Amino acid sequence: MPLAVWSARYETGIKEIDAQHKRLFQAINRMEAAYRAGTEEAEAQESLAFLARYTLEHFETEEALMRAIGYPMLEFHQKEHADLMTQILAMKAKLDEGFLVPLDGADFAAHVANFAADWLAHHINEADMGYVQFGRERQPEQP
Ligand SMILES: [Fe+2]
Repeated sequence: MPLAVWSARYETGIKEIDAQHKRLFQAINRMEAAYRAGTEEAEAQESLAFLARYTLEHFETEEALMRAIGYPMLEFHQKEHADLMTQILAMKAKLDEGFLVPLDGADFAAHVANFAADWLAHHINEADMGYVQFGRERQPEQP
């Protein structure tokens, strides 16, 4: 069973953001599955690299959107994004280097996936919904 399960309560109503959030959940699950299945190392590492790249791309989309609507919490939100990227990249470095004692790669990948899935679920509901609500109040005619 996938770790990161999409749910209607993550729906922001903004098409591009919802599509990206769904894709992030998928990327987390794919990465975890790749390490668990004992997929070739390079391929497993690529699934994690994709997750890191796509997370960054998604954050850039969100930050541009927040900037466009003049969201007052932009800086705080950006800091949450930056903190997550720092943590993901640190975990990625560990996995890439294979320096994981006492966990093996699959266990560590599962730990990264759990952490990312949990972070994403909370971040969407607590932080993202803030700009969604603000955008709705500001521009009720827009999604
Ligand atoms: Fe966000």
